[in-house]
Amino acid sequence: MDYQKILEDIEQEVKPMLLEGKVADYIPALAGIDPEQFAMSITLFDGTQYSVGKSEKLFSIQSISKVFTYTLALKFYSEEFYGRVGHEPSGDPFNSLVQLEYENGVPRNPFINAGAINVTDALITHYGSSKSAYNHIIEFIRSIADEEEIYLDKAVSISEMEKGYRNISLASLMKSFDNLDNSVLDVVQTYFNHCSIEMNTQMLSRAMLYLANHGLDPVTNKAYISPPQAKRINAVMLTCGHYDASGDFAYNVGLPGKSGVGGGIVAIVPGKMAISVWSPGLNAQGNSLVGTKALELFTTKTGLSIF
Ligand code: DON
Repeated sequence: MDYQKILEDIEQEVKPMLLEGKVADYIPALAGIDPEQFAMSITLFDGTQYSVGKSEKLFSIQSISKVFTYTLALKFYSEEFYGRVGHEPSGDPFNSLVQLEYENGVPRNPFINAGAINVTDALITHYGSSKSAYNHIIEFIRSIADEEEIYLDKAVSISEMEKGYRNISLASLMKSFDNLDNSVLDVVQTYFNHCSIEMNTQMLSRAMLYLANHGLDPVTNKAYISPPQAKRINAVMLTCGHYDASGDFAYNVGLPGKSGVGGGIVAIVPGKMAISVWSPGLNAQGNSLVGTKALELFTTKTGLSIF
């Protein structure tokens, strides 16, 4: 298959849609981003990459970081973790408070904000401090991306904290139900720090390969998690990775995927490759509008959906 040509065709087809989405302005440091940008990369099992657009441009990975933190939490806590965070779709927006109240402070899944904050809390407990947890998270990302030069954008993290009322509320609600070990502000700050990490589509498609290969990086042969754990993470990506648009993403794209409000999306083609796409304009559910379309075109043109 001529992947380079397929990506170039997709780029041409989505170009007219670039101004249809709306950038995430609830995080002031992200509000000024030019929405007319696009990048897409795929990485195959032998490490070969194909890219189009601004695939070297760094962007805020935001909720894509939740895949990395969930990976670490599953690795260290295994199934006992399901007492703190579930694995069912929420059907609600990513930052919703209502379900958490009537479900006694146990988030539906690790990808809505409440679940990801809880995962971050579990990692702080495991590693002993928020500083150590953050250092392990970023070192894990550098390892799976096979790239040392990955950092957070401090301005984004500060901006998230300044407007972090909802996330602080979610953490406080969990604390009130005794489902948070550490201090609310410490946990939320660490959560914002990992959301503010910057990567590009080349790095992200490389980093996700372990999930396409049962937890084992096919390029370096490093085993990061067990095959059953990789199966679970992919399942939660498929059913919960796009919040209240997860059904829509499965229906149109047909791959496990995870989005972030920075406009990035990652998707897994089991046994073959990992994909990352970026375009900052978002749809109503906070997922990249053009990114979703580009992935739909990819699976339609290649036949590489899991269904
Ligand atoms: O907590 C937030 O709202 C952001 N740091 C992350 C949200 C996000 O990326 C939702 N994804 N599409």
